Amino acid sequence: MSASVYFDHNATTPLDPAVLETMLPWLSECFGNPSSRHEYGRAARRAVDDAREKVAAAVGAQPSEVIFLSSGSEANNLFIKGALERLTPGGLAIGATEHSCVVRPAEQMARRGWRLWKLPVGPDGRIDMAACAEIVARKPSLVSVMLANNETGVLQDVSSFAALARRNDCLFHTDAIQALGKIPLDFRALNAAGVNAMALSAHKLGGPKGAAALIFDKRAPIEPLVAGGGHERGLRAGTENVAAIVGFGEACERAARNLSRNAEKTRDLRQRLEKGLIALGAPVFGREAERLPNTVCFAAPGIDGETLVSWLDRAGFAVSSGSACSSDSPEPSHVLLAMGVAPDLARGAVRVSLGASNTTDQVDAFLEAARMTLSQLKKLTAIAVCQ
Ligand SMILES: Cc1ncc(COP(=O)(O)O)c(C=O)c1O
Repeated sequence: MSASVYFDHNATTPLDPAVLETMLPWLSECFGNPSSRHEYGRAARRAVDDAREKVAAAVGAQPSEVIFLSSGSEANNLFIKGALERLTPGGLAIGATEHSCVVRPAEQMARRGWRLWKLPVGPDGRIDMAACAEIVARKPSLVSVMLANNETGVLQDVSSFAALARRNDCLFHTDAIQALGKIPLDFRALNAAGVNAMALSAHKLGGPKGAAALIFDKRAPIEPLVAGGGHERGLRAGTENVAAIVGFGEACERAARNLSRNAEKTRDLRQRLEKGLIALGAPVFGREAERLPNTVCFAAPGIDGETLVSWLDRAGFAVSSGSACSSDSPEPSHVLLAMGVAPDLARGAVRVSLGASNTTDQVDAFLEAARMTLSQLKKLTAIAVCQ
């Protein structure tokens, strides 16, 4: 593997070596099934319960509110489809800039007879409160608004939207997958405001792939997507991925401990990066809004984002165009389009997502590489236009 500078922490993070260390026994000698009654099984059950406590503590929830799953996508699908499955079809409202794993299940429900509303955002990427109030007054059964956007890092005022939803008897779900480990999360406070469920994923904060959670206040009955044994309070059948769950717990504990230091560090790097990008004439999307400390989404007018990403990759920097999950699609990002960005400019979007191990020197080297790459690409574009 080449030693390129990793600037794509919103796609996934490197597994923290200390997290790996805690996982290793559960991939070798501690192989029991947590449902078994013997000592091997009991040890695995204790490890899962211990991880449940750590995840709960990191986000201000009760351990009994944590349902372990395999991915953040599964957590979002479980609440949206599982809660609506128990209700007679009515309305469902989601933010216009949600991740595809919220958009697609919502669209699936729309095909089954649910009316789907998208809550519009302003040019800064924030959901418009007045438009939201108008839609929520029509009493959708469920409202889903993400805490932090994966492409722009823009934060939503989830507590206010949840309070609005509660006043209108709507269930409220939030995708907190990008927020976890980057900003403080307090499920108790969110729950008091009206949030019923919150999705988390381990691989975004130094944990392994294959572990995630739905934090869920039990007020809404939900139908499992995977039916079978009574695992995870009957909401997710299947023998638990013990090693990944152990790693998730450890990653949450470590992230909570280091949160303010890491946020401060990435915020400083982000500011340096943005200043440099703006000097290069590249607009930064969502800059006016409160955002995750580590995320910068920019575009170079007239340059295609996919091309820029591959040139930067060759120059030794791993960044992404749009969100990782949609980067095989040539369509401009739905997030930027919802913010009113012109399609041509949106097609040029590049996301840099920093981690605490990144350095000032790496940011400066990136800015230099971006400057050179942009000037070369602009020359090539000019030649192509003349031909
Ligand atoms: C905001 C958001 N929601 C959901 C997901 C999906 O999480 P997972 O990769 O664990 O399925 C991602 C991953 O990129 C994300 O950024």
